Amino acid sequence: MKYKAVIFDLDGVICSTDEYHYLAWKALAEMLGIDGFTREDNKLQRGVSRMESLEVVLRKTRTVYTEEQKTALAETKNEIYKNMLSGMSEKDLSEEVSTTLYKLREKGLKLAIGSSSKNTPFILERLGLGAYFDAVADGNCVTRSKPDPEVFLKAAEMLGFKPSECLVVEDAAAGAKAGVDGGFDVAGLGEAGDYGKTAYRLKAFSDIAKICECD
Ligand code: BG6
Ligand code: MG
Repeated sequence: MKYKAVIFDLDGVICSTDEYHYLAWKALAEMLGIDGFTREDNKLQRGVSRMESLEVVLRKTRTVYTEEQKTALAETKNEIYKNMLSGMSEKDLSEEVSTTLYKLREKGLKLAIGSSSKNTPFILERLGLGAYFDAVADGNCVTRSKPDPEVFLKAAEMLGFKPSECLVVEDAAAGAKAGVDGGFDVAGLGEAGDYGKTAYRLKAFSDIAKICECD
């Protein structure tokens, strides 16, 4: 088999929480009197840290905020976001994702998460995947967020594999760059598939089973 492990991004790959991120940032923008925050702006937030995502919103206003105020704004967004997450359950794990994970695991591949989100443990718990992955590297254990490869390198290290032995699955351009720069083969969904250096462009999540010879 070509790979020994698969490292998944979380938001927008395992679940659709990328939409909640967008809606929560949009709500914050509106609270700040910014009405021009769009889905196009949101693309720049994909994969990057909470504070970097906030900067994408603040670029749309002339108001200058102190670091303390920025921290409070990021917390407000996170409260709005967590409120949205609180309605999530195992039903939010799609049949396609759960079947594909099962097929990979059945063939003996190790499975990990590599996400910039500090809410990763909370989301995995809600999806019923709290103890499912062999390794979880997330925003709580890295100092540099994607496009830096740190989170994927950490996941590979936790699994005990070299980057060349792992496939990274991403939906964001910043995440695809992180994977490629870390020495991983990347399978890209959506915008990540358009990043020129990805090894595979996925039409659907289930394509991963074919790439990993599990279908
Ligand atoms: C990433 C998202 O997974 O996590 C980003 O793609 C987000 O949009 C980042 O900013 C940090 O998330 P959180 O949950 O820690 O605010
Ligand atoms: Mg993502």
